Amino acid sequence: METPYTLLDGKEINRQMREEIKAEVEKMVAEGHKSPRLIAVLVGHDGGSETYVHNKMITCEACGIRSETLRFEADITEEELLKEVAKLNADDDLDGFIVQLPLPKHIDAQKVIEAIDPRKDVDGFHPTNVGKLSIGLPGFVSATPFGICELLRRYNISTDGKHVVVLGRSDIVGKPVAQLLLHKDNPGNATVTVCHSHTKDIAFYTRHADVIIAALGQPHFVKADMVKEGAVVIDVGTTRVPDASRAKGFRLCGDVDFDNVAPKCSYITPVPGGVGPMTIIALLHNTLLAARRNRGLEK
Ligand code: GUN
Repeated sequence: METPYTLLDGKEINRQMREEIKAEVEKMVAEGHKSPRLIAVLVGHDGGSETYVHNKMITCEACGIRSETLRFEADITEEELLKEVAKLNADDDLDGFIVQLPLPKHIDAQKVIEAIDPRKDVDGFHPTNVGKLSIGLPGFVSATPFGICELLRRYNISTDGKHVVVLGRSDIVGKPVAQLLLHKDNPGNATVTVCHSHTKDIAFYTRHADVIIAALGQPHFVKADMVKEGAVVIDVGTTRVPDASRAKGFRLCGDVDFDNVAPKCSYITPVPGGVGPMTIIALLHNTLLAARRNRGLEK
């Protein structure tokens, strides 16, 4: 028998969190502090990156966070970019900044990430923040893993004692979300399995999962026969698939075969409108946190 499922509405949670962040920023300013300030560094003209950064900036504006995009052409040298990062590190009026990825091939992205002051690394990509996350110390948690956990928390979905299967072992989603769900926390206390391109028989693991987090970037990878009745399914995929019927010429396609999988689920995220809006709001959460720390309002 089909179970009715609940959509995990990232857009709605994004709206709620926007209001909360806006109220906190207003309070901060009313108490005589400067509003938080964020810069996004955008190198080149990648269509996806342009859209992500634009969405991040307009959401900041809506919450009273001062934000700017610092643009560079794709031929900027690694040395020049590192100098720009050093300038941002030294800007006392700047709470946080991100360098949008991917970067052009001639630039070593890891070198750039490691040049960012961890206290301004609101993306949570610096090894210091990655290390802090792995042992549960306060730092900055990267946006997508934080957004996924916040979505679970706000829908009161407990992962305590549950088997969570993460598909994908990326540094920005798979590994950190696995770490977060291992912590003695809520959400957390899960038994976590991470599957990847070398895992034999992925369906064996997913069929035994209470929660599936699909973050491998392969459209419709997760099929109905891979999912247990009543599972919670979180779809992180956002592959652009050509679609002539859309004004932009493409649509976003998740890693889950939604139409066939959803009827088996207790909860499932849509694409778009699930994890994406949570990722954006998580960056604002981190920027506010950086500002609170810089103003001595939080550790
Ligand atoms: N590219 C894709 N996702 C992200 C993100 O969360 N931060 C940055 N800086 N680049 C990205």
